Amino acid sequence: MHGAIRAESSMTCVSKVKTKMAAAAAKTGGGRLAGTVALVTGGGNGIGRAACQRFAREGAAVAVVDISQPAARETLESLPAVPHGLHRGYATDVSSSAAVNKLVTDVCSDFPSPPNVVVTSAGILRYAPFLEVDEQHFDDVIGVNLKPLRVRPMGDLIQA
Ligand SMILES: NC(=O)c1ccc[n+]([C@@H]2O[C@H](COP(=O)([O-])OP(=O)(O)OC[C@H]3O[C@@H](n4cnc5c(N)ncnc54)[C@H](O)[C@@H]3O)[C@@H](O)[C@H]2O)c1
Repeated sequence: MHGAIRAESSMTCVSKVKTKMAAAAAKTGGGRLAGTVALVTGGGNGIGRAACQRFAREGAAVAVVDISQPAARETLESLPAVPHGLHRGYATDVSSSAAVNKLVTDVCSDFPSPPNVVVTSAGILRYAPFLEVDEQHFDDVIGVNLKPLRVRPMGDLIQA
């Protein structure tokens, strides 16, 4: 029952993207992405951190998401301020559907509009010969790298 309510509210959230984006863009100045919101998973390091920094430089307000709170905070502190916006950090394990559900709900309420851009850069790599990959190893890698995309509110944002 709760899942249905969440899915419905996330769809409402997504349907507001374009109108809110246009309104916010009209109010802000500077940067090709002024007035937009970018959600970046794995934003605490590597490609995700670089994406956060680039989106912020272009004027987007950024939701920095990482399983590591210190890493997310470090990225957050490296971001340039944006006019009429605020960057925020979220300590979230994207392999948990419940956590991703809560993340999308929180981001939609914390920012003036739902995310216009979603970057799923959270990922793990564990090298092993394929036939030696046990079930736990397989589930861990798929859980972080692919599962968040099938969690309904995140998938809705990506398709919007
Ligand atoms: N760096 C490369 O050259 C390269 C090339 C091809 C593909 N990739 C893939 O791109 C992705 C990002 O690469 P990277 O080099 O930036 O990796 P990275 O290890 O530098 O950064 C990944 C980030 O994801 C976070 N993370 C891990 N598990 C998480 C979870 N469960 N929930 C939330 N955050 C989590 C980590 O804390 C880390 O901050 C990975 O999936 C990687 O396999 C990287």
